[in-house]
Amino acid sequence: MKTLSDQAVGTAHGKIILIGEHAVVYNEPAIAMPFMATPVEVIIEKINGGSVISSSYYQGLLQTVPDSLKNLKSLIQSICSDLNQPVDGLSISISSLIPPERGMGSSAAVATALVRALFAYFERDIAHDTLLNYVEISEKIAHGNPSGLDARVTSSASPIYYKKNSHFSSIPLHVSGYLIAADTGMKGQTKKAVRDVAKQMERASHQTLTIIKKIGHLTEEARIAIQGDHVERLGELLTLSHECLKQINVSNERLDRLVDTALKNHALGAKLTGGGRGGCMIALARSTKQAKLIAHKLMENGAVETWIHALGENSNE
Ligand code: MEV
Repeated sequence: MKTLSDQAVGTAHGKIILIGEHAVVYNEPAIAMPFMATPVEVIIEKINGGSVISSSYYQGLLQTVPDSLKNLKSLIQSICSDLNQPVDGLSISISSLIPPERGMGSSAAVATALVRALFAYFERDIAHDTLLNYVEISEKIAHGNPSGLDARVTSSASPIYYKKNSHFSSIPLHVSGYLIAADTGMKGQTKKAVRDVAKQMERASHQTLTIIKKIGHLTEEARIAIQGDHVERLGELLTLSHECLKQINVSNERLDRLVDTALKNHALGAKLTGGGRGGCMIALARSTKQAKLIAHKLMENGAVETWIHALGENSNE
């Protein structure tokens, strides 16, 4: 008889929106990046008796996000039932460096790592589409109507170019450099920001649409920069897109201060990422040394946490 593994590990990582947020709501493209500096790992071990879930989270997701434990339990139950395996006898420990509620894909990454760990534990292969399906079901319970983006990016090693209504394609990552993300310590306000942009669209449709279209162009140019290793151009595009996001009023004082700090300290570019009005910002640097200096200055100027992710394989010091 085939014996099950005593231990299995599943991994995933965070995501950030590189460029195109808000414009994507109006059918323009956006690009999201896997953010490896915020990994998630789920370890499953065999124990006697009932199953237990423990977690070590950045700022304690299970404590801060209502229902997250319940959602994970229902995901575990549905996988065990599909695989004809008992739910009992599992010790599931989750560790994550992704800050919850910052638009960095925390819940999707935890679900992705959990699904991978369960399939590995029960010694089953899993097709990528099946993985996405499970994560989507779990995301639907957590977020209502997810776009499918987080599930894709948290399980992918490549940037993803996407449009509304589920057009997703992987972009080859040729650009080298260092992406810094900084947490403002404030919850993002995506829903409200999206609603306010919609109101602006009603009031001043021509001006607002012009800005939205400009973000769309910047995103198309960013796609070319990523594929062609034009890191300086990519930086400029990020900063230009932040200016557009400011014009549609989705930034705030703290995000602007962090963007200015990054630029003053020789970032190639900087912008808010995600819904805005809080959440996180990103900056691009050419070298690790520069990235570390920028991260340090961001902490001095109001960030509560920073992460650095090396882009591409040939990023040089
Ligand atoms: C939020 O992470 C990204 C937005 O573009 C909203 C959305 O695409 O649903 C602001």
